[in-house]
Amino acid sequence: MRFHTVLPCVALATAPLAVSAAGTLGFAVGNTNPDGTCKTQSDFEADFKAIQGNSQAQIVRTYSSSDQYGNPCNTPSEILPAAKSAGIQVLLGMWPDGGAYEREKAAIDKADPTSFGDTLYGITVGSEGMYRGTYSAQELIGWIKQMKQTYPDTPIGTADSWNGWANGTMDSIITSGIELILANGFSYWQYQELSNATTTYFDDMAQALAHVQEVTGSLDKIHFMNGETGWPGTGGTDAGAAKAGDDNMKTYWKSAVCGLLDWGVDLFWFEAFDEPNKADAIGDNGQKASEQYWGSFTSSRKPKFDMSC
Ligand SMILES: *[C@@H]1O[C@H](CO)[C@@H](O)[C@H](O)[C@H]1NC(C)=O
Ligand SMILES: *[C@@H]1O[C@H](CO)[C@@H](O)[C@H](O)[C@H]1NC(C)=O
Repeated sequence: MRFHTVLPCVALATAPLAVSAAGTLGFAVGNTNPDGTCKTQSDFEADFKAIQGNSQAQIVRTYSSSDQYGNPCNTPSEILPAAKSAGIQVLLGMWPDGGAYEREKAAIDKADPTSFGDTLYGITVGSEGMYRGTYSAQELIGWIKQMKQTYPDTPIGTADSWNGWANGTMDSIITSGIELILANGFSYWQYQELSNATTTYFDDMAQALAHVQEVTGSLDKIHFMNGETGWPGTGGTDAGAAKAGDDNMKTYWKSAVCGLLDWGVDLFWFEAFDEPNKADAIGDNGQKASEQYWGSFTSSRKPKFDMSC
């Protein structure tokens, strides 16, 4: 069933969209291999071959330029040449938490990212750090302004949980001169059963987008994207009524992902590849949850299902 035939009209009415063309599909990619080593240019080339051979994706986003655990991965220097030859764009992520901003910026500067032309889509400073409380709004705004100074022609943004963008806690960021807003939304982490997952996801995005539009007084002053959505596959942990499994992941993709793209919103699927070495996360219910099987591809880059829309 096509998604927009089941979406309640309220969601559409609360968030008039600035764009009518289909949204752009992207993938979140990690910067380490299953054995924990840093991905090199050839690892990213293999990633892009799998992604482009099995989906319509035109862009990927990363989270860290060195590594969130301090390894000198130099991800921008590895991923940008691979992306340029593959013809895929990159939204470079920085992980400034825990005093890493300078190290992250140095890894970006070293890659001379603007020399890759359109391959560099933009740069995001931070991912859900406001939600986690690992940096303040003032710190984030300072970093965004510094990055803008160094890269005046590159769109600079940040990613955080949809409800932070919707409920006012991100307003000083929205008005900071930022050009990209990535709102993350997971019906799974809201413990929604699959049958209600797409409605919940759309409602999350509609609330976040509507608030950004209200604060900016514009439909499109800031480019709004869904920074992450996803559903855990087989081997993953259930979250209340949200049940992990490859079939459920596929159903969520066909309904939620294809639906939001139809609606004209750019989005990033979290994530491209399973990360069997990733540590468990602690969910909002205080229980351990596996973050290892969220890939729509296995860690050996085999597609789990047909990712066409
Ligand atoms: C707003 O959203 C943030 C981010 O998820 C959350 O931490 C905070 O508790 C929310 N605040 C209110 C007033 O709902
Ligand atoms: C379905 O999702 C909507 C939007 O998130 C929510 O308000 C509602 O309570 C959910 N329904 C059920 C049965 O969980």
